[in-house]
Amino acid sequence: RLMSVVRGTGSCLPERIMWNQDFEGIVETSDEWIRQRTGIAARHIAGEGETTVSLAETASRRALDAAGLTPDDIDLIVLATATPNNTFPASAVQLQAALGIDHGFAFDIQAVCSGFVFGLTTADLYLKSGMARRALVVGAETFSRILDWQDRSTCVLFGDGAGAVVLEAVEIAETEEPRGVLVSRLRSDGAHQSKLYVDGGPSTTGTVGKLRMEGREVFKHAVGMITDVIEQSFEAAGIGPDDVDWFVPHQANRRIIDASAKKLGIAAEKVIITVEGHGNTSAASIPLALDVAVRDGRIKTGDLVLLEAMGGGFTWGAVLVRW
Ligand code: ACO
Repeated sequence: RLMSVVRGTGSCLPERIMWNQDFEGIVETSDEWIRQRTGIAARHIAGEGETTVSLAETASRRALDAAGLTPDDIDLIVLATATPNNTFPASAVQLQAALGIDHGFAFDIQAVCSGFVFGLTTADLYLKSGMARRALVVGAETFSRILDWQDRSTCVLFGDGAGAVVLEAVEIAETEEPRGVLVSRLRSDGAHQSKLYVDGGPSTTGTVGKLRMEGREVFKHAVGMITDVIEQSFEAAGIGPDDVDWFVPHQANRRIIDASAKKLGIAAEKVIITVEGHGNTSAASIPLALDVAVRDGRIKTGDLVLLEAMGGGFTWGAVLVRW
């Protein structure tokens, strides 16, 4: 059978770092409040000339280098973003051009913070079907451009960045241990759309709009939704929390991450946390965290890695990957 195996990871953060202290004077807040409620200390903010596509390009080139491949080897690009460079064409197509790829196909996925989990699942199905052989799966965002910088309840939470993973279709014999993407579980429920949304768009206001969130409402639903799809994934794979080597959750909020790990019975030392230095980078947060943990030697070949995200819509999902 064909399985989608991870060949390499890469990431890119904007140069400029904004510390919690830098908000003092912009809105009424404090380093202490932000750290206590979210676990965030700093986030990267895109400067002039840095865009979703430029960050995605650098992350993709680093992932290709790590995989020992060139852009020419890629025949599918799935880019997850809620902050594309333009309404159209897709940022994935712009990334394809930036990488100099003139074959295969590329498209964007819009599932907000769950975008990488949805993108990885989508690319996996294309590879397993034989329609593509090697895929770049990218999460890239510039949320700083859709924040209301006067709203202290949202502007302190988000950051910009990009992460990329190279997936390759590999034939694995039935007698061999399965590798790569093992199980995915995706969900959405549009009944919750008013809790986290952007108040503009091409077909309604003709503007880009700003992010709006009822933080407490999102918080209330997050842990239950996340743990639900993870438990379904465990059941489908015939494993339990003790089998997981690394838990790489969407990095929105330290309290949501800790509560989810505790409810699932996953030991704290198996949880990869980058929210402190990255803030919430939406679809980019999981591939950014993956790249950190691969490069510092924590995630190794053979490890069982659990990914999870929840975001606007709501959308939510989990993926189990044998590295
Ligand atoms: N600094 C200081 N005070 C603040 C700030 C701030 N930055 N923001 C809000 N407050 C105030 C509020 O005005 C409120 O004051 P009041 O009691 O006088 O009205 C008080 O702090 C408490 O506000 P709450 O919203 O109840 O605070 P809470 O403890 O719920 O924390 C937070 C807010 C951090 C947003 C929390 O609800 C949360 O983490 N929610 C989940 C949000 C999230 O992770 N969203 C993203 C997931 S999906 C995705 O990634 C797109």
